[in-house]
Amino acid sequence: MIELAPSILSADFARLAEQIRSAEEGGAALVHLDVMDGHFVPNLTIGPPVVASVRKITSLPLDCHLMIEKPDQFIPIFADAGADWISVHQEAVPHLHRSLELIKHHDCLAGVVINPATPVETLSEILDIIDYVLVMSVNPGFGGQKFIRHSLVKIAKLATLRQQRGLNFRIEIDGGVALDTIGDIVRAGAEVLVAGNAVFGSGNPKEQAQKLIKAATEATLQRA
Ligand code: DX5
Ligand code: ZN
Repeated sequence: MIELAPSILSADFARLAEQIRSAEEGGAALVHLDVMDGHFVPNLTIGPPVVASVRKITSLPLDCHLMIEKPDQFIPIFADAGADWISVHQEAVPHLHRSLELIKHHDCLAGVVINPATPVETLSEILDIIDYVLVMSVNPGFGGQKFIRHSLVKIAKLATLRQQRGLNFRIEIDGGVALDTIGDIVRAGAEVLVAGNAVFGSGNPKEQAQKLIKAATEATLQRA
């Protein structure tokens, strides 16, 4: 099943509720929130208060992508603010297993994110305890970047590993997801599709979301 997760990074923050509602009407399944600390990535964005405000205006699950150093100290705070899914970067934590257990302890779905240069194989020992893997298809920090095509190989590898090991984690992709890339992404095996610029960058979020979902759904019919 395909799930579109609009990233509010490219939304107009002064009209956030209206923009999220529009994306929701267009079929969004999740709201993706990009949390950046200016250290792990070269940008600053939002924190727990924004998650708490978004929690009040939508019933969609909130997918919090933590691009921060030392995420363990913030996991309970994001869970309290209303996060449903929380992901940490493999590159940001020394004790990945512990971080994932902490997320689950707070009753959230637990995800691991890998940067473009991080091999899928680094997740080998924790694939059986995670709810989702988030494959970055741009270097994290900014919206509107160009899709890195090698990410398709990583998605396909994860889909194969999942099948071989009889696991059921979801595969999420983030960065450069747009009408011209979404078909290949879905055919490679991703099912949770984050899109910032393609939903909120221009035009009406409802229509943009509908177009992306239509293209993604058509591509599922062409999966190998
Ligand atoms: C980038 C963020 C993404 C970003 C994607 O660091 O993690 O979620 O919003 O933006 P687009 O879809 O514009 O590439
Ligand atoms: Zn993200």
